[in-house]
Amino acid sequence: MNEKKRVITLGQFIIERQADFPYAKGELSRLLRDIGIAAKIVNREVNKAGLVDIIGDMGGINVQGEKVKKLDVFANDQFISALRSGGECCGIASEENEEIILIEGGISQDAKYVIAIDPLDGSSNIDVNVSIGTIFSIYRRNSSTNDICNTNDFMQPGTLQVAAGYIIYGSSTMLVYTTGKGVNGFTLDPSIGEFCLSHPDMKIPASGKVYSINEGNYVHFPDGVKQYIKYCQVEDKDTNRPYTSRYIGSLVADFHRNMIKGGIYIYPSTAKSPNGKLRLLYECNPLAFITEQAGGKASNGKSRILQLQPDEIHQRSPLFIGSFEMVEKAEEFMLKYSQIEA
Ligand code: AHG
Ligand code: MN
Ligand code: MN
Repeated sequence: MNEKKRVITLGQFIIERQADFPYAKGELSRLLRDIGIAAKIVNREVNKAGLVDIIGDMGGINVQGEKVKKLDVFANDQFISALRSGGECCGIASEENEEIILIEGGISQDAKYVIAIDPLDGSSNIDVNVSIGTIFSIYRRNSSTNDICNTNDFMQPGTLQVAAGYIIYGSSTMLVYTTGKGVNGFTLDPSIGEFCLSHPDMKIPASGKVYSINEGNYVHFPDGVKQYIKYCQVEDKDTNRPYTSRYIGSLVADFHRNMIKGGIYIYPSTAKSPNGKLRLLYECNPLAFITEQAGGKASNGKSRILQLQPDEIHQRSPLFIGSFEMVEKAEEFMLKYSQIEA
């Protein structure tokens, strides 16, 4: 008879692993707890998206010049309010807000952490019942705790992240995070309303069969990417090619699949967007931190994502991320066929 495994909730796991965290023990635990609580509320609304009139355009345009859906705004509000009332965060950089959000006064007065967040990733998939997500990145502030935090607190390379994670609202809802001591994944059990440890010590396979890229933009890709795509499509038994093409259009979902199965995700620069589309602070850096912790690799085609120095909160970067050997191979093609800066 199978022995029943002990269920470990996110809350229990965070407390058990407090020693992994180099700074004051309770602070990060409370931050992750706050994010977990907001995630459950967002999950509830995501699940209802087809039922209630919460989907659909709000008519506004976000700071990236894209249409804002109601659920983006809802998710943004939930994460901001959970972090505001939690007391451990003094500032938030969100995809949905042009400027950083300052959390002043009350218990957040001397909070030591700032958070960059994409509250709802893959928002074009809301209306069609396809997986979406949330991505977050946590830094210690540079500024003194006597001051109000400022944009400079966010201008830190990804190597200085103290924690990062994502939530995927999919066929089941998962929260995956790292504090720099490996990656752990938790699945939401809706019957008890708790995230339960389901994927301990996640590792991304060194290589895989999947490449994920929006090939509709092919003509605008750099030559290195065009050549790499050809390489993916050529038959070669030794390296398991041709690979399979999979592209959901939600970074979190594409990334998560590749984490589990092995694969590479690429959002390169294009003629139209020389820095690519994805945002360094709240899309590339947190996923790069998780990837490296899981044994994978994340690059802008030439340099390690985590070492890029940001100078703007909504800065974009090309992204090549996933299985170590696949990203390394794509970089070889970039070096050979494309001249890129950085
Ligand atoms: P967001 O919904 O937060 O704006 O992010 C959308 C991003 C990312 O999730 C996805 O991988 C990418 O945009 C898809 O872009 P294309 O439609 O250009 O492929
Ligand atoms: Mn996004
Ligand atoms: Mn978003």
